[in-house]
Amino acid sequence: MTKPTWDAIFAKQQWGRYPSEMVVREVMSWKKRQCPWGGPDRLPALDLGCGGGAHAMFLAENGFEVTAMDSSREALHQTEKNCLRRGLDDYVRYVEMDYIANPIAWQHYHCPSVTLDWLSLAHAPAEHAERVMREHLFHLQRMGIYIVGLFGKATSPATFEGRPPCPLWTRGGVEGIAQVIVKDAPGCKYRIEEQAYTRNGDLTQIFCLVFSKD
Ligand SMILES: C[S@@+](CC[C@H](N)C(=O)[O-])C[C@H]1O[C@@H](n2cnc3c(N)ncnc32)[C@H](O)[C@@H]1O
Repeated sequence: MTKPTWDAIFAKQQWGRYPSEMVVREVMSWKKRQCPWGGPDRLPALDLGCGGGAHAMFLAENGFEVTAMDSSREALHQTEKNCLRRGLDDYVRYVEMDYIANPIAWQHYHCPSVTLDWLSLAHAPAEHAERVMREHLFHLQRMGIYIVGLFGKATSPATFEGRPPCPLWTRGGVEGIAQVIVKDAPGCKYRIEEQAYTRNGDLTQIFCLVFSKD
């Protein structure tokens, strides 16, 4: 059987229409701590593997200027259509780029306050994860957060039907990689949140790894 590509998936369906509850909670509580009185300026955010744009739109609606990056033209096209429909187009830049294969992806954005990678790096072979996370943590602005969503090992195989395959993580594995990364990144910390939900009887377990920089 051939592997489904993201372009083929997005040509057939809308992916992830709503932002993840964990992302909403992390971003909004970070924002409340950093900007308790709001502020006139939009903050820079980066949405890696933005898919159909659910998180890019959530960020644009909540005071961020977003760079939405994806290697799938179809996905970016959906993001753009959705942003236009919601009147958010002025606050979102669309960048077609494979940020895992391309070591200069960072040249397309400038020091985000919030970097989000929700279930995108999750699909890359685990050996790329450490390098990519290091890179994006390095380019994060001081006081910023970098949120990564990874699939946990308890996830039912049925969850991945129709998706490209992806490695499954244990809490220990996520903890291990995060420790190694922050050890070489002065002023950086991490914590891990976990979410599990059942849809049509199939379990999805997600580890949310949140890096922060002093
Ligand atoms: C499961 S979808 C998640 C989409 C979105 N983050 C969300 O939460 O709704 C994975 C997305 O990551 C993108 N993606 C996967 N590998 C990528 C890569 N190496 N570079 C850029 N985008 C990638 C896919 O095209 C797809 O849009």
